Amino acid sequence: MSDGGLKQAREKMTQAGVAPAAIETFTRFYRLLESGATGLVREDDVEPLPQLDRAADLDVSDDAAAAALAQTAIIKLNGGLGTSMGMDRAKSLLPVRRTADGQDLTFLDVIVGQVRAARAATGARLPLLLMNSFRTRDDSLALLDRYDDLAVDGLPLDFLQNREPKLRADDLTPVDWPADPTLEWCPPGHGDLYPALHASGVVRALLDAGLRYASVSNSDNLGAAPDARIAGWFAATGAPYAAEMCLKTPADVKGGQLVVRKADGRIVQRETAQTHPDDLAVSLDPTRHRYFHTNNLWFDLEALAAELDRTGGVLELPLIRNAKTVDPADPASTPVIQIESAMGAAVAVFEGATAIEVGRERFLPVKTTNDLLVLRSDVYALTDDARLVAQAPAPLVTLPPQYKTIARFDERFPDGAPSLRGATSLTVEGDWTFGRGVVVEGDAVLGDPGAPSRVPDGATVTAAGVAAR
Ligand code: UTP
Repeated sequence: MSDGGLKQAREKMTQAGVAPAAIETFTRFYRLLESGATGLVREDDVEPLPQLDRAADLDVSDDAAAAALAQTAIIKLNGGLGTSMGMDRAKSLLPVRRTADGQDLTFLDVIVGQVRAARAATGARLPLLLMNSFRTRDDSLALLDRYDDLAVDGLPLDFLQNREPKLRADDLTPVDWPADPTLEWCPPGHGDLYPALHASGVVRALLDAGLRYASVSNSDNLGAAPDARIAGWFAATGAPYAAEMCLKTPADVKGGQLVVRKADGRIVQRETAQTHPDDLAVSLDPTRHRYFHTNNLWFDLEALAAELDRTGGVLELPLIRNAKTVDPADPASTPVIQIESAMGAAVAVFEGATAIEVGRERFLPVKTTNDLLVLRSDVYALTDDARLVAQAPAPLVTLPPQYKTIARFDERFPDGAPSLRGATSLTVEGDWTFGRGVVVEGDAVLGDPGAPSRVPDGATVTAAGVAAR
């Protein structure tokens, strides 16, 4: 254990040409990891976030909204590898909707559609920039090549985040994996936004192009379309930073939250991993901590530039210790630790940071194939301005482990998602392949038939199982 591991990791990063700010960020985190820092935020030390302004009630004039959007850039976090869905490339390259004429649209196509629609509606320039990682850049830029009107004012369509060595869990030295050396590296989580922005010079380029605000969100959240009214609100606050929050329901048992630190009154982020087991129940209690964090953020680019210059891009964010295996597809491969950090943790760094309550429609994340099935189904309609609008309450979908990876999921839904609009929940227990035109209703359950089975074309699935047409 020890400095040996850190030295080796730093050398490996230097040889690979990783930016100095990223090496310093990694070094700080490595020391925290070695010291056994837990980063726990105890309930006794915090207060819940007070009642927030609601986006739905904002009093923002159309002119102020349009003026703020005209100065806004859209940044999408696109460097993650979708390992929870068995992927090793950008989730945003997955097809998410099929058009009436049978064309598959990926998440990125929908994002581009949203940006173009907002440009057409408001006249805003709205540059779109992806934060890519070494694994997501080539494919994602190749897809954007389809759109020759996307780039504006000579601004790039992406910037590259850093990479860092995965560390052996037993001694914290960089792992060797000759079978596929690219697997020795990982992107360091979306908290890497700050060193990546610093190294790329993107914030300065945006300011030089006359932009003042950035609206940042996950590329797997198609709810986070450009929003002129929120831009108008943010500009009027004069705040350096704002987080979009949603009201929690009892079903929202995961995800980060914001709390107010008693010691200095600052808003700080608390992830599930930073919650002491004794505080877990109260942290999830929607009557005490009413909001969860959507990971949709707004930045004043001048304040961000000042912070990046002041810190050299090394923001003091809490460490997230992510335990995985070196080959995500092989649970028997060497256990590793990935050092990560979360973009939203920077809330504590910006004095005067604020937050706003937004509607649930701004939070449509795809973390699992359960989420993907609902998004691909008729629960959502894709509007002309490329927004996904709920047509019914989203059912709770629970698929068994054999549907977890995207390849196996797609095999089981060869004709697309069944109709879920009339369903409250869908629980699949066995290995079922869905035929064409299947309709799911009520609290539907498909029990385990003990062998791979097929839901026939046109069948209805209910609490009683399958009823053939
Ligand atoms: P998540 O961590 O929730 O998803 O990132 P992921 O990385 O895609 O999936 P898993 O954990 O490997 O299954 C939320 C958003 O942040 C981006 C992702 O692309 C996603 O849009 N992200 C994540 C980055 O841009 N860089 C990172 O290093 C990590």
